Amino acid sequence: MLVFSSSKSIKDYISTLRKENSIGFVPTMGALHLGHLSLIVQAKTENDVVVVSIFVNPTQFDKKEDLNKYPRTIEEDLKLLQSVNCDVVFIPSIDEMYEDKITSEHFDFGGIEFEMEGKFRKGHFDGVGTIVKKLFEIVMPQNAYFGEKDFQQLQIVKKLVEITKLPIKIIGCKIFREKDGLAMSSRNIRLSEEQRKAAPFIYQTLLDTQQKFGIINANEIKQWVEEQFVNNEFLKLEYFEIACEDSLKPANECQEKKNYRAFIAVFVNDIRLIDNIRLGN
Ligand code: PAJ
Repeated sequence: MLVFSSSKSIKDYISTLRKENSIGFVPTMGALHLGHLSLIVQAKTENDVVVVSIFVNPTQFDKKEDLNKYPRTIEEDLKLLQSVNCDVVFIPSIDEMYEDKITSEHFDFGGIEFEMEGKFRKGHFDGVGTIVKKLFEIVMPQNAYFGEKDFQQLQIVKKLVEITKLPIKIIGCKIFREKDGLAMSSRNIRLSEEQRKAAPFIYQTLLDTQQKFGIINANEIKQWVEEQFVNNEFLKLEYFEIACEDSLKPANECQEKKNYRAFIAVFVNDIRLIDNIRLGN
């Protein structure tokens, strides 16, 4: 496994491989868990060479405290990457990615950037778009893998390659969960024992939503979910939404009556957890 920190070096190295190998890319912010590894394993089966990046991107955090508290576990990450036979790792510094200007490029993602995560985390998707574009331009993979755990981000990245005309196929991967249903997240390691016990309620609520979908309407489900969290000692609901998968508009506003998903964001003290589930089929 080769580890690079310079963009020029990794770019040069990958360009020598590209002639005869397909390149799969999995961008991450580290603190790796089985969710990340599932993306890498899928990339390994579909490409000759798999590149993983680890970079905690400052421009996508709207709160400095969240950025400072984001877990960093590079040594363990490298061991995990080795265990799944990752080929190339890119771990750039902030200077390497941003030089002296830590700012985002502004993107027009056609409106999906203003829904849900976009409403509650100002500038978040400009930050994600900025770093993913920079990483794509360095790695130039044929295939890039993103988790449905961050479903809105997956849609944003699909839009990004459309706008930038980068010839990269974006592949969405299923959400990897703990045995009790909690979606795996780098932030889970910050949960106390009590908070960790309370957290599977998030997925349980999404499963209940799935049962109710089609029986009562989206607004009634939303109200029901809000009531479930009112008296929860550990979990504070930030938002719950039922939206169309393509436009990400709330179900009662979207034109296309196709696939729906329920989306949820919950605070456990200062730890923010998100999850989502497909509805209707
Ligand atoms: P990060 O949160 O580290 O996630 C990296 C990738 O792993 C994302 O595509 C995310 O959706 C996926 N992932 C995380 N948990 C998952 C789970 N439980 N099941 C399946 N996939 C999961 O997302 C980011 O980093 C950043 O925003 C990034 C795209 C790297 C840009 O900075």
